[in-house]
Amino acid sequence: MNVVFLGPPGAGKGTQARRLAERYGVAHIATGDILREAMASGSDLGRKAKSYYDRGELVPDEVMLEVVAHRLRQADAAQGFVLDGFPRTVPQAEGLDRILRSMGRRVEAVLLFQVPQPALVRRLAGRWVCRAAGHVFHEVYSPPKVAGRCDHDGSELVQREDDRPETVERRLEVYVRQTEPLVEYYRGRGLLHTVDASADPDEVARRVEAALREAGAL
Ligand code: AP5
Repeated sequence: MNVVFLGPPGAGKGTQARRLAERYGVAHIATGDILREAMASGSDLGRKAKSYYDRGELVPDEVMLEVVAHRLRQADAAQGFVLDGFPRTVPQAEGLDRILRSMGRRVEAVLLFQVPQPALVRRLAGRWVCRAAGHVFHEVYSPPKVAGRCDHDGSELVQREDDRPETVERRLEVYVRQTEPLVEYYRGRGLLHTVDASADPDEVARRVEAALREAGAL
């Protein structure tokens, strides 16, 4: 399974990518998670990314391509991958094609998660993530069993810096301007499958699997 999840902030890509990767034993490669870990550790990558991330802007393509090229060569990605949040620009998609070609691999399917904008804003405003491993909750739609604590590892739940309303607005604009052109890029290559991701997470998971089966990626 070599698949890409595409869609606006808050569409549920991370929630579904994590479930799918665990269920099928493939790598969940989330570039946002990689950047948040890098910022938390104060690495070179974290320092390079921070000013873009905090403004809701995209980190430069060449930085992201290096990150993903390295990550795809790690052992757990050999069985397959779910790319979540990458590619996000046409140059990133072209770069991904080059990297995979050099490895004798290719993207098999791209799922476009569709959710109306007011629902995206509600999902991001109520999102809580755990400090230890980034497990994701929502105060209304998928609340933790104990308020403020992760169900999986007990660590503290916090809100993401970039989920402030003004940054969310910017991220949604950036998505339309820089990432939406990928819809035509992948449609033109016959790889695009749309998923109505406005239902509850279990139903969306069923739709994701159905779309991947139809695409021949599962
Ligand atoms: P990133 O972390 O990738 O954020 P994003 O793409 O904006 O996506 P989100 O993580 O916000 O949303 P999601 O679709 O994963 O939704 P989730 O499952 O969490 O990127 C952050 C930043 O990093 C970027 O702005 C940029 O600066 C930088 N960056 C990252 N990748 C980059 C790249 N390739 N190039 C350049 N820069 C890059 O769900 C959201 C909420 O909704 C949760 O609370 C969840 O519990 C809830 N929820 C999920 N599904 C459902 C459902 N079906 N029903 C109800 N609630 C649901």
